[in-house]
Amino acid sequence: MKNIVAIYPGSFDPVTNGHLDLIHRGAKLFDKLIVAIARNLDKGEPLFSLTERKEMLIAMTSEIGNVAIDTFEGLLVSYCIQQNANAVLRGIRAISDYEFELQMALMNRKMEPRIETVFMMPAEQYSYLSSRIVREIAKLGGPLNGLVPEMVEQKVRQRITQRHISATGKHLL
Ligand code: PNS
Repeated sequence: MKNIVAIYPGSFDPVTNGHLDLIHRGAKLFDKLIVAIARNLDKGEPLFSLTERKEMLIAMTSEIGNVAIDTFEGLLVSYCIQQNANAVLRGIRAISDYEFELQMALMNRKMEPRIETVFMMPAEQYSYLSSRIVREIAKLGGPLNGLVPEMVEQKVRQRITQRHISATGKHLL
């Protein structure tokens, strides 16, 4: 029997209900699923530190036995080899995701042919959800219910309030 270890990489800034949906699906398919938070230097200043993102993911997945949470730096394929992983899991929401995901999957395959990328679709109610849109709605004071877990919503609101106060010296209304 094969022991399939998959890596689910991403920024998770913050983790959304769409990510959690995919984690539950991936945990059913693979023997072990490592959710790997990337230190992504290209994306500007994140809302949450790697440690904060890791803590939130641990809290949200503690009941799933075969899921581990980790962080990584550098090439994803190098991290996969280091973890003895055979697969990368990525979520595809809409056709618009496909082009970038295809490029990444094929480039990763060129660098490391032993690793297969597996695409899964989240439940359709999450097909328009992303961390970027969660951050934007939160900054503009919109509702986050149904998009992220309650604990994450509280942390997002706290962080946005802190940032607003340190940038302007004023409290949000
Ligand atoms: O959640 P995101 O931002 O869509 O995740 C993108 C991520 C972290 C999976 C991607 O940027 C990545 O794999 N970064 C690690 C660096 C790397 O291996 N780059 C080459 C990809 S072909």
